[in-house]
Amino acid sequence: MKAIVAVDLDWGIGYKGNLLQRIPEDMKLFKRMTLGKVVVMGRETFESLPGKKPLTDRINILLSKTMQPTDDKIIICRSLGELFEQLKKYDPDDVFVIGGESIYTQLLPYCTEVYVTRIKNKYEADKYFTNLDKEEAWELVSEGDPQNYNDIRFNFLRYVKTSSLKGGKD
Ligand SMILES: NC(=O)c1ccc[n+]([C@@H]2O[C@H](COP(=O)([O-])OP(=O)(O)OC[C@H]3O[C@@H](n4cnc5c(N)ncnc54)[C@H](OP(=O)(O)O)[C@@H]3O)[C@@H](O)[C@H]2O)c1
Repeated sequence: MKAIVAVDLDWGIGYKGNLLQRIPEDMKLFKRMTLGKVVVMGRETFESLPGKKPLTDRINILLSKTMQPTDDKIIICRSLGELFEQLKKYDPDDVFVIGGESIYTQLLPYCTEVYVTRIKNKYEADKYFTNLDKEEAWELVSEGDPQNYNDIRFNFLRYVKTSSLKGGKD
C-alpha cells in the first residue's frame, strides 16, 4: 500500500475541509499515479471531491461509518477490518491511500511508500500528515527538481519505509 499527499513546509495538508493549494502539476502527478489503481479515502475527503463524485477510472474505496451508498462505483467500508478484507482482492502495490488526515494516520503503518508533493510555503492548516523526516522508519529516497507554479515553489519527493528497503523491495 502506498500513500500520496501534498504537504506544506509544516506537513500541513488541509484547512476547513479543503486542500491548502491546488497545483496543476501536482494534480497531474496524482492522476498519473492513481489511474487504473485503487484509491482509499475518508468520507470528508470524498465530500471535497468535485461534485462529490468518485474519481474516474479508479476503484474508489471510501471509509465511513455514516455514509449511505449513493453510487455503485463506490465501495464503502465501515471499518479498517472491512477495508483490509476488500483489499485482499488487489495487489498492494496498486493501492493508494489518498487522505485525509485521519485515513493517512491510520494507514501509514501499512504503507511502504509515500509520494509527497512538498509545497515550499507555510499555510494556515488544521489537518496534517506525519512528518516523515522525523520518523526513523522512513527514508527520503528521491527528490525532484524544484518547480514553480505562479510564485509557489514545490517539488516531488518519494519516501520508502526502511524495513521494506532492507527487505529488498523497492
Ligand atoms: N493535501 C492532501 O494531499 C490531501 C489529501 C486528502 C485530503 N486532504 C485534506 O484533509 C482534510 C480531510 O481530512 P479529515 O481527517 O478531516 O477527513 P478524512 O480522513 O477524509 O475523513 C474522515 C472520515 O472518514 C471516516 N473514517 C475514518 N476512519 C474510519 C474508520 N476506521 N472506519 C470507518 N470510517 C472511518 C469517518 O467518516 P464518518 O464520519 O462518515 O464515519 C471520518 O469522519 C481536508 O482538509 C482535505 O482537503 C488533503
